[in-house]
Amino acid sequence: MDLEVFNGLLRPKSIAVIGASDTPGKIGYTVVKNLLESGYEGPIYPINPKGGEIQGLKAYASVLDVPGEIDAAAVVVPAKIVPTVAKECGQKGVKGLIVIASGFSEVGRDDLESQVVEIAHEHGMRVLGPNIVGILSNSDQCNASFAPFLPLPGKAALVSQSGALLIAMDASTYIRRVGFDKMVSIGNMSDVNFADMVAWLDQDETTGCVSLYIEGLKDGRRFMENAREASKPIIALKSGVSAHGAAAAASHTGSLAGSGKVYEAAFEQAGVVMAADLNNLFDRTLALSLQPPMPGDNLLIITNGGGVGVLATDSAERYGLPLRYAPDDVQAELQNHMPEFGSAKNPVDLTGMAGRDWYQDSVQYAFAHKWVDGLVVLYCETAMTDPQDIAEGIQEAVEASGITDKPIAVSFVGGERSEAAMRWLVEKSIPAYNEPDTSVNAMAALREYARNQDLAAHSFEPLSDVDEAAAREVIAKVRAERCRDMTEIESKAIFEAYGLPVANTRLADDEAQAVELAEAIGYPVVMKIVSPDILHKSDAGGVMVDIKDADGVREAFNTILDNAKAYKSEANIHGVAIQEMAPWGTEVILGSVNDPTFGPAVMFGLGGIFVEILRDVTFRVAPVSADQAAKMLADINGAPILEGARGEEPKDRQALAELLSRYSQMICDLADEVQESDANPVIVYEEGEGAIIVDARIILKDND
Ligand code: ACO
Repeated sequence: MDLEVFNGLLRPKSIAVIGASDTPGKIGYTVVKNLLESGYEGPIYPINPKGGEIQGLKAYASVLDVPGEIDAAAVVVPAKIVPTVAKECGQKGVKGLIVIASGFSEVGRDDLESQVVEIAHEHGMRVLGPNIVGILSNSDQCNASFAPFLPLPGKAALVSQSGALLIAMDASTYIRRVGFDKMVSIGNMSDVNFADMVAWLDQDETTGCVSLYIEGLKDGRRFMENAREASKPIIALKSGVSAHGAAAAASHTGSLAGSGKVYEAAFEQAGVVMAADLNNLFDRTLALSLQPPMPGDNLLIITNGGGVGVLATDSAERYGLPLRYAPDDVQAELQNHMPEFGSAKNPVDLTGMAGRDWYQDSVQYAFAHKWVDGLVVLYCETAMTDPQDIAEGIQEAVEASGITDKPIAVSFVGGERSEAAMRWLVEKSIPAYNEPDTSVNAMAALREYARNQDLAAHSFEPLSDVDEAAAREVIAKVRAERCRDMTEIESKAIFEAYGLPVANTRLADDEAQAVELAEAIGYPVVMKIVSPDILHKSDAGGVMVDIKDADGVREAFNTILDNAKAYKSEANIHGVAIQEMAPWGTEVILGSVNDPTFGPAVMFGLGGIFVEILRDVTFRVAPVSADQAAKMLADINGAPILEGARGEEPKDRQALAELLSRYSQMICDLADEVQESDANPVIVYEEGEGAIIVDARIILKDND
């Protein structure tokens, strides 16, 4: 990243406004007015062919006439003029273009957009936008946008793909009391994208936390890399996560992926915390910008009200932080700061009698205790207590504890006095919310941040005992013959080339060969139709199981062929597969998709109804190490089945994790060819006895 150029674009020391205007109501008027009103201290150069003066500033007919250097140019002329002004900016040595103008790729004018980027790159400039609101920075007193004013100052930086949303969030920072140092509108992302912004904000000393509103990423893998390397918390609200595109997916996995699942996985793997909606983005941003990550799962709740305590307990479970009772020493000490009818378990109920002292003493003790990884303090406004007094007690306790490596969040439920006390707490860097649920959710965000950092830290060591060339040979043969759908035999050949354990499956052309193969494999066998035109083999009556002898094989061979022909008379039939019949075990499914944003991603779930009806599956962007794969096995709701529920022996999770990791390497190596794949079912046996892929399917990319 060329820091000088990016700093020039995003923290400019001088700005030209191209299309500056003296006519109120025009965007070119508002941008100049905003720069003046925000107290921008660098030179502002209004550019307008008429020259003269604009809002008291000397105007120039062209940037080429400006005497001083220009870091950034805010471009507010109609789209068709933008290439011309970009050229002039390049000649002038401008570092970055903030292209506010609309009328580019969002209305089908991709040509105009790439022209501007091309010109910019020829001159070493970077382009923000087009189709944006502009940039806002409190630490630079710079409102180079048509958003109304600078946001409430704070430590976070917002990057938004939606301009309107940025404007709305800007104004609501004052109501929600969540402070931002910067707001950057990123629009069409013709050049500068989220990956760039994450990298730049991470080194920007005035940013403490990065908050993103994302509609779609342009370069998913680079975004993941930059986010993973970032030292600051990143929180993202992703819109458009409904299962769009699922209908078009050809495989089982493809239909389960939707766009949201892979995004979710990618964010987790990149260490990014997700927000559920706009309110949640604000609330979580506040916590992440003020507090350190939560290092472990032990959340302690201190309250003066049983009701809010129970609500918070429910929330803790909902957000993945189920409460545990505090250890005896903690309970014994806390007992000293409450009446006899209080409770020192967890939540710690100081009762409605609690005043400042009880709060202060218990918070100070609990926050410093090594068992406690995070503290949520709840307060219901009572007639006997002053919320401000309680707030000060909490803050003093935190300060006196000397603890800075674990988080605290607070909820005050009450009226205006509580609101004022919470504002005061936020100024003291303690996130405060008016609902118990919200402070627990904020704490969960701090825990997710720590957990995701751990996830992101895993690295993948590729296996060397794989035969990529052999796999590619199979693909080349299929490509030469037809297009995308590979038969089970072909798919399994690729799986085998990658050392994946597949059930022994051979292709028989005729009855006699079928018997020969069945005898070599050993009875009982499974027989299946092999045709690139019949993918749902069972629907076609193309699968017969538990065939015990040669007569059975002969009969099955003919029945399967007759059924297939009746199902699809024009189907190209390769023959009948003879397959060893794997012993009964637990069925799971592995799958892959080639996601348009993140590339190859793997899926894991339990087979049968778990996947078809309950959709109990989990995704990761590939490749995944065996450790990461083991976490996938633990991720699904049905995990206890693998752990050995209801008296059953635990299943061979290690073999399954290794298999999943190896499979993820296969789909990454072959990502230029493979669109989707399924290993379904895979049968997993008891610990130490491995797993076997019974059926496999690969769908190649449509290269037409
Ligand atoms: N160099 C400098 N100034 C020039 C040039 C030039 N080569 N050519 C013309 N100008 C001047 C014009 O004379 C005019 O100044 P004036 O008011 O003194 O006459 C000024 O530049 C603006 O040009 P206009 O033709 O009047 O254009 P207008 O102001 O109507 O619109 C704008 C320009 C705002 C860029 C418009 O085309 C546009 O894209 N609007 C949408 C912007 C937007 O919404 N972006 C954010 C999207 S996100 C969201 O939706 C919130």
